[in-house]
Amino acid sequence: MTNENFKGRDFLKLLDFTSEEIEYLVDLAADFKKKKQNGIPVDRLRGRNIALIFEKTSTRTRCSFEVAAHDLGIGTTYLDPSGSQIGKKESIADTARVLASMFDGIEYRGYGQEIVEELAKFSKVPVWNGLTNEFHPTQMLADLLTIRECFGKLKGIKLAYFGDARYNTGNSLMVVGAKMGMDVVLCSSRKYFPDPALVKQCEEIAAKTGGSILLTEDPKEAAKDADVFYTDVWVSMGEPDEVWQERITDLLPYRITSDIMKLGKENAVFMHCLPAFHNLKTGIGEKIHEKYGLNEMEVTDEVFESVQSVVFQEAENRMHTIKAVIAATLGYQK
Ligand code: CP
Ligand code: NVA
Repeated sequence: MTNENFKGRDFLKLLDFTSEEIEYLVDLAADFKKKKQNGIPVDRLRGRNIALIFEKTSTRTRCSFEVAAHDLGIGTTYLDPSGSQIGKKESIADTARVLASMFDGIEYRGYGQEIVEELAKFSKVPVWNGLTNEFHPTQMLADLLTIRECFGKLKGIKLAYFGDARYNTGNSLMVVGAKMGMDVVLCSSRKYFPDPALVKQCEEIAAKTGGSILLTEDPKEAAKDADVFYTDVWVSMGEPDEVWQERITDLLPYRITSDIMKLGKENAVFMHCLPAFHNLKTGIGEKIHEKYGLNEMEVTDEVFESVQSVVFQEAENRMHTIKAVIAATLGYQK
């Protein structure tokens, strides 16, 4: 396989890619990471330009796209949540045709998956999903690279995800785990289990790759012998503030604590896509503390700051993996 297999393709969700293609992108990212560490330039895409549309806020994804593009020699234009006509004065189809006439690739972060799919349908240049309500595929490549760095393999790794399992992160971990032959356990209250149609699709994929999917309400069952403990915020971007109370009640039993981590393997790691509510040093964290008395939410500060936590390695890997996606789809020649 070479970058030619990816040239001109969209990167909208990992269901669209084979296990071999996903592995190829992770390998390419590992290669870019090594080159960056050794100061080897990779700016072979000079003269290209990409548009970064963010209808929701971001730290990691935006910075990863900007730094990765810069390293590859590509220029970027950032459109912030209020700084474009998209959806308000101009349809997605028209936006796609305008941007595709000026740029070589378009990143989109926003709401429904159908929006990024529509953008891709009308764009003649690659469209990359920088997070929708349903999927977060660039996050998954970073997670795979991190897991591989920690354990030297993906196949057979038991990944236990705790919390809101029916949103972008939970859905995507299930998809990518199935594709890569991992044993994925999604642990939550039944209300937050993923869409049954997606679960079925992932079970069928897992049956072919030797992986497995398990949904459970029992944290002990999920944690037993896990290699990777993973969680995400309880309320995602774009969801109304009113859902906090219910989420706290429903998801508090699924917080990752050191007691839960102890049930995993001895060398288990803690992962989180970030941002995380693990202390009171955020505006929302403080507000939740005042209203509900919680000092930490989806993960305890103890676990977040422990030696088992690989969250900052994971965050750095966002940049290397996003670089791989941009490079492969824009035809970077090694
Ligand atoms: N994990 C992630 O996507 O972070 P940002 O929202 O900061 O981009
Ligand atoms: N589920 C989170 C992921 C953030 C990277 C959100 O959508 O806000």
